[in-house]
Amino acid sequence: MEVFIAPGYEQISRIAARIVADVLNAKPNAVLGLATGSTPLGLYKELIRMHRDEGLDFAQVTTFNLDEYVGLAPTNTQSYHYFMRENFFEHINIATDHIYIPSGTTSNYHAFCPWYERRIEECGGIDIQILGIGSDGHIAFNEPGSSLRSRTRLKTLAKQTIEDNSRFFEQPEDVPVYAITMGVGTILESRSILLLANGENKASAVAQMVEGPVTSMIPASALQLHPAADVILDDAAASQLKMRDYYEWVQQNKPSAPRS
Ligand code: F6R
Repeated sequence: MEVFIAPGYEQISRIAARIVADVLNAKPNAVLGLATGSTPLGLYKELIRMHRDEGLDFAQVTTFNLDEYVGLAPTNTQSYHYFMRENFFEHINIATDHIYIPSGTTSNYHAFCPWYERRIEECGGIDIQILGIGSDGHIAFNEPGSSLRSRTRLKTLAKQTIEDNSRFFEQPEDVPVYAITMGVGTILESRSILLLANGENKASAVAQMVEGPVTSMIPASALQLHPAADVILDDAAASQLKMRDYYEWVQQNKPSAPRS
């Protein structure tokens, strides 16, 4: 796991966009793993700008999203289908049949989840997986206690996650209790991983992910087992790291380190 720290949200978004663009320039038919939530919004904005101003091409790209709330149709404004369309897909030249997002409305989860896993494999596997982190240490909707080898499945959201995400809904009772999510094992199979975090409320989860033991109680800590996981943090999200000086030293001295 490599840790990079930049002053603020704009800088981490720009660094992440440059890393994703490098992947696409090297492999125009790359498979991207995508996240929703507030964290990747700046990254999507910057990728849209690169598409518009610099011709970054998504024509051959395939995407797989991490998760979707159960019970929300793609037309529901709180669904992750809707979020992705509004904040990213509508603004780039991706083919609609190259977009995969777990179904929130399938009547057969037992068949859907293995199918989703199979599609990832058939498309060649995920080249770069974008992740945010929950304040409880979750990645995708793999809540504390999730098996580190888990696969795509139906998951009950933790109370903390429902509380955190209620800011997007009119009232807390509207937040769905279930989601379909890629598993930790699914995520670990990606060729590379880019986890972004910003803000003080992520600092404790980030410190446990990077410097704590690998444990299912902090599912993000499983990224320590991945050979190519980059963690890009703003100042506030990095504020509880004990070895921060060292990460900054590495970042300054490593020629290939991303800089803001
Ligand atoms: C979203 C997802 C979640 C979020 C996490 C952080 O697809 O999988 O794990 O990345 O809950 O959410 P934000 O970015 O809203 O703080």
